[in-house]
Amino acid sequence: MEVKVTWLGHSATLVETNMVKIIIDPFLSGNSLSPVGPDEVDVDMIIVTHGHADHLGDTLDIARRTGAMVLSNFEIVTYLQGQGLENLHPLHIGGGRNFEWGRVKLTIAHHGSSLPDGTYGGAPAGVLMDLGGVRIYHAGDTSLFYDMKLIGHGGLDLALLPIGDNFTMGPDDALEAVKLLAPDMVIPIHYNTFDMIQQDPAEWAIAVKQETGVEVSLLEPGESLELLQ
Ligand code: NI
Ligand code: MN
Repeated sequence: MEVKVTWLGHSATLVETNMVKIIIDPFLSGNSLSPVGPDEVDVDMIIVTHGHADHLGDTLDIARRTGAMVLSNFEIVTYLQGQGLENLHPLHIGGGRNFEWGRVKLTIAHHGSSLPDGTYGGAPAGVLMDLGGVRIYHAGDTSLFYDMKLIGHGGLDLALLPIGDNFTMGPDDALEAVKLLAPDMVIPIHYNTFDMIQQDPAEWAIAVKQETGVEVSLLEPGESLELLQ
């Protein structure tokens, strides 16, 4: 399976195979780093890690225009149902679902998850995907936690990890996360979108390479990486 991963700035990530086009955390119109707007995205599946506006983003607009299925935790899916969406799939932490194109599982994340209108958004999540043997972990917003070791047990081709600090792991904890997860490759996310999360990803990449040997793919927003299995 060939998988194309495109980072759109912040946590927004496109994951495409010849069977499915997925966008995770489609925060595009409010995301100064994103090279594309919500009208330019063509997907079959939207995965939302938690309810915060910089992750839920343009989910409603994209889902209404494309008819894409939205997969998130039960509380967020219920909220979206109330907004008139019908093509929804609820999961919850530790639960996975096999689709014809691969498997998606929600993992723990230590963070908050309220929705933009203050509605309870359930527990925040990370996403573990297996696309024809290509295994990708998108951490969502989280602190460092030791159970990342378990998430890495099946082997990971790629991990996308927040490095912004302030709201999530900063560079030092994200480096510890790389050690626990032991992925083949890592992409830093959730940095430089706002003043409070300014970081130097190049400096982080050097530290990760030196301390772990893991390859860091420093993508500019809009750039892609191809994974093969
Ligand atoms: Ni958040
Ligand atoms: Mn966030």
